[in-house]
Amino acid sequence: MGERHLGRTKRIVELLWILMVVLTLGGCMGATESPEDAMLYPDEVKDNDDYIVVGFSQVGAESDWRAGNTESFRSVFTEENGYFLLYEDAQQKQENQLKAIRNFILQEVDYIILDPIVETGWDAVLQEAKDAQIPVILVDRSVEVEDEGLYTCWVGSDFEKEGRSAGEWLIDYLEEQGRSEETIQIVTLQGTPDSTAQIGRTAGFASVLKEQENWKMLESLSGDFTQAKGQEVMEYFLETYEKIDVLVSENDNMTFGAIDAIHEAGKTCGPDGEIIVISFDCVKAALEAMMHGEINADFECNPILGPRVAQIIKLLEKGEPVEKVQYVEERYFDASMDLENMIKTRVY
Ligand code: AHR
Repeated sequence: MGERHLGRTKRIVELLWILMVVLTLGGCMGATESPEDAMLYPDEVKDNDDYIVVGFSQVGAESDWRAGNTESFRSVFTEENGYFLLYEDAQQKQENQLKAIRNFILQEVDYIILDPIVETGWDAVLQEAKDAQIPVILVDRSVEVEDEGLYTCWVGSDFEKEGRSAGEWLIDYLEEQGRSEETIQIVTLQGTPDSTAQIGRTAGFASVLKEQENWKMLESLSGDFTQAKGQEVMEYFLETYEKIDVLVSENDNMTFGAIDAIHEAGKTCGPDGEIIVISFDCVKAALEAMMHGEINADFECNPILGPRVAQIIKLLEKGEPVEKVQYVEERYFDASMDLENMIKTRVY
């Protein structure tokens, strides 16, 4: 074989190598389209022990709750506080979260914070993080994995309790209204299917519903936790069912969309209206809507998880143990309460 031919073969092999590296990196990059867009942290940070590097894979920006949750992390994991935060918005797509986590592993971050969009499909990537010895802290939603040792701990809401409390509230409310014996027709706007928030709230409410012979669940459909989808699905419910007594909406943004649909259909809701509205999250705008008579009751989901996670990281840095499951405190609000002063101090 001539030298020129050998040289050409070597060049082709080199090009194939480069192509392979680019494709591999592309597959490992964050929630964005191209490798250049993925979030990287600078070498000054990498070589500087003063910073704790945290990769945070967030669900998206689908709701007011989510905005409050993101802000809670951004305000705590700052350089002034000794952190460098790599933030990736997954735009409600699990595949983006898988890419983001692999990108964090590649960059050898100190901790990974994951708010998993859905519960399933995490075993492989969490195993990769474990093999790389990077602790994973789950926030808000959780995962269903074979080995619970794949993550360090979880911090979030007791979604099932939220759903159960909503059902129990409805029993009391109907009793107060003298409607305990009436047939009550219910529709549910569910959150993202297979997300912990959807699974828990649906199961919690269902556990009360099954004991109430006169309650009838007409239909439950997903509004994906967004206002636009909430409105669309509620429009369908209103066209399909002549009489709806109760709307259970698994987050406030879907509720806002549903209220628009109710008004557009020429119907009314809230304490003085035709449809009883039960919502989840308790964001400021929802409590305002409650004050304006549009929502009957709202079950809180606390988005302020950043400070709690920072405490956990401090313990882990000192080599101390942390509790595996950590619930945050929550309450509910209904239209009979004095909301005005409380709203003034509400941060989300
Ligand atoms: O996982 C928490 C839920 O997700 C919140 O209820 C909702 O608003 C968000 O989109």
